[in-house]
Amino acid sequence: MKKLFISIMAFAMTLPAIADEGMWLLPLLRQQKFPEMQALGLKLQDYDIYNPDSSSIKDAIVIFGGGCTGEMVSPDGLLLTNHHCGYGSIQRHSTVEQDYLTDGFWAMNRDEELPNPGLSVTFIDKIEDVTDYVKAELAKETDPNSMNFLSPKFLNGLAKEKVGEEFLLNNPGTEVEIKQFYGGNQYFMFTKKIFSDVRLVGAPPSSIGKFGADTDNWMWPRHTGDFAVFRVYADANGNPAPYSETNVPLRPKQWLKINLQGVNENDYAMMMGFPGRTNKYYTSWEVAERRDIDNAVRIRVRDLRQQAMLDEMLNDPAVRIQYSSKYASSTNAHKNAIGSNWAIKKRNFQQVKQDEQDNLIAWSKKNCEPEYPDALLTLEEIVENRKGLRFRSWMLDEALSRGIEFTAVPTQIEPLVLALKGKDKELQKQELRALEQAYHRFANQNYSYKVDRRIAKVMLEEYCKQVPAAEQPAYFELLQSKFKGHVDEFVDYIFDNSIYGSETNFNAFLKKPTAKALENDPMILFAQSVRNEDMALKNALKEFDEGYALAHRSYVKGLLAMYGDKANFPDANFTLRLTYGQVRGYEPRDCDTYGYQTTLDGVMEKEDPTNWEFVVPDKLKSLYEAGNFGRYGMSNGKMPVAFCATTHSTGGNSGSPVMNANGELIGINFDRNWEGVGGDIQYLPDYQRSIIVDIRYVLFIIDKFAGAGYLLDEMDIIE
Ligand code: ARG
Ligand code: GLU
Repeated sequence: MKKLFISIMAFAMTLPAIADEGMWLLPLLRQQKFPEMQALGLKLQDYDIYNPDSSSIKDAIVIFGGGCTGEMVSPDGLLLTNHHCGYGSIQRHSTVEQDYLTDGFWAMNRDEELPNPGLSVTFIDKIEDVTDYVKAELAKETDPNSMNFLSPKFLNGLAKEKVGEEFLLNNPGTEVEIKQFYGGNQYFMFTKKIFSDVRLVGAPPSSIGKFGADTDNWMWPRHTGDFAVFRVYADANGNPAPYSETNVPLRPKQWLKINLQGVNENDYAMMMGFPGRTNKYYTSWEVAERRDIDNAVRIRVRDLRQQAMLDEMLNDPAVRIQYSSKYASSTNAHKNAIGSNWAIKKRNFQQVKQDEQDNLIAWSKKNCEPEYPDALLTLEEIVENRKGLRFRSWMLDEALSRGIEFTAVPTQIEPLVLALKGKDKELQKQELRALEQAYHRFANQNYSYKVDRRIAKVMLEEYCKQVPAAEQPAYFELLQSKFKGHVDEFVDYIFDNSIYGSETNFNAFLKKPTAKALENDPMILFAQSVRNEDMALKNALKEFDEGYALAHRSYVKGLLAMYGDKANFPDANFTLRLTYGQVRGYEPRDCDTYGYQTTLDGVMEKEDPTNWEFVVPDKLKSLYEAGNFGRYGMSNGKMPVAFCATTHSTGGNSGSPVMNANGELIGINFDRNWEGVGGDIQYLPDYQRSIIVDIRYVLFIIDKFAGAGYLLDEMDIIE
């Protein structure tokens, strides 16, 4: 008994990571986590998941577009991801007459699939530890303060050198990349194959794919069918090729089997995908900085901006459509910041990180390793010294650069000014046309002068309240000298007197263009001044970056030396990771208990035909009423919609496959609960849940709702 206790204690002490925590890198999986995964129920061998010498499940997982994950589900290149990941592609095929966003889209055969220029799908062919190679190259550096150890440009240069030009020439669509891990203590090289002929096969209507929209975003219980179907095409040899009618569906090395048996509480679940960014190795000072500067500024400023925007949207249906996407992306990060601060407080992250630091200091003393305590002192000092600049930079970014749309007006006016001062009429015409095009890209169909004018007033008011006049962009001097600090008059002046202030103003300028009008244009001067200030602040902050990066690398190195890397996964950096855990509900507040599975009943409970976010399509209603869910229904007669699990995921994991103990697809990840977003700093076993659309709902919608059941014929389905 005593012996058992001792061995459990020893085990626990080498494992500061909490079960289910972690975004594990595949080549390290076997050494770091595999026994725990099997103990939790995994029935596969490590080489089934990742095999450096042969194909494995990893070959079915892809980067979808620029920031999502997708998975192959058929030998004919069929791919699943989220509706919100395919949103841009679906939108680009939509018109008022043929609105695929609203009505959904389903190709009824391969000829009807829609190409998407600019969209790509990336397979990870090979992952290699190149730490020794990179460190040897870095050792040749003469500049002791070089930041090359973190520089993507430098590292990717090394990657190309390593594989050689010829390899890349002989393998079109193949790219190599070296990324740093553990703050620059380890390096891996990724050989990627990028396919650019990716066609839209199907998407549910937004009333399914985006059901609950912003109100339900970051929320559980959830009832969204957030999925879309694409197909990857290749040339006749299976190689990446630009879109061509002669391309054929890609035959991937692996595709996932689909399991319709459903989930039970505490079932093993794992996810593979491309988590974007986490800050597990924050010090206590960075936690405070994130809370008091980054998150606080974002929450305050976006609150004000969104209030004004929503008011305009509710007052005018045209504005509602124009701003719905801007509003959604603003609230997405806003709610995330709120959840992040909630968790920092609730779980006292500052103390958690402080304890970790204290442990390291004590350990370092015992082992005579002064490097690590020194690194901590440096980090503390840097965070303290960059406070003021960081606050100004966040205020400028949130309130002015992102908050006010007209800070993005075209300001490249020199060529036109020169042309107008000269005599070449043809050149003038040409430059005017260029400006006109740039202007219309800015003032596009989703831009409202009225809304921007109103929001600019709100944003400037707040900015001037928070940032002293001496620290504002130079052009704001005019606000004091000419308008006595009256923000509203300043903004009205800018709109009324700028060529970009209205369609009328711009047309008047086109009729009688002068260099003087451009050079004195208040909106251009405003925008230039904000951008100059932004550059100045970023440059000033750069002074700290180098010291920070070196100290951060030392700190992480110290933690690895103390705990060993078995327990410590590297921060997310948009590389392929595996996270595992269990299907499970949670209790975020006293007596507030959430189950793990939602059903169509909940969709009907949330239905509100007067609110666009909660409209339920008629067809879905009649399917619900008929209650004949066939093989997709649960044994209690209900139709599953979504479930949640303890898997440690973050932004970028959208579209990630969620698999059972046999590696079969049981759902598609699409969100997290807002109580769990603090997991980007410190995993929250009792609060954090990945939100996953149940694969049975996905197939039910494809088959019974859309009538595109023919797609299921090419999948491997386990009933
Ligand atoms: N919160 C999810 C993820 O970051 C979904 C975002 C898209 N949906 C939305 N309603 N904005 O990123
Ligand atoms: N919706 C997120 C994404 O687009 C995933 C949510 C999260 O942060 O976990 O990747």
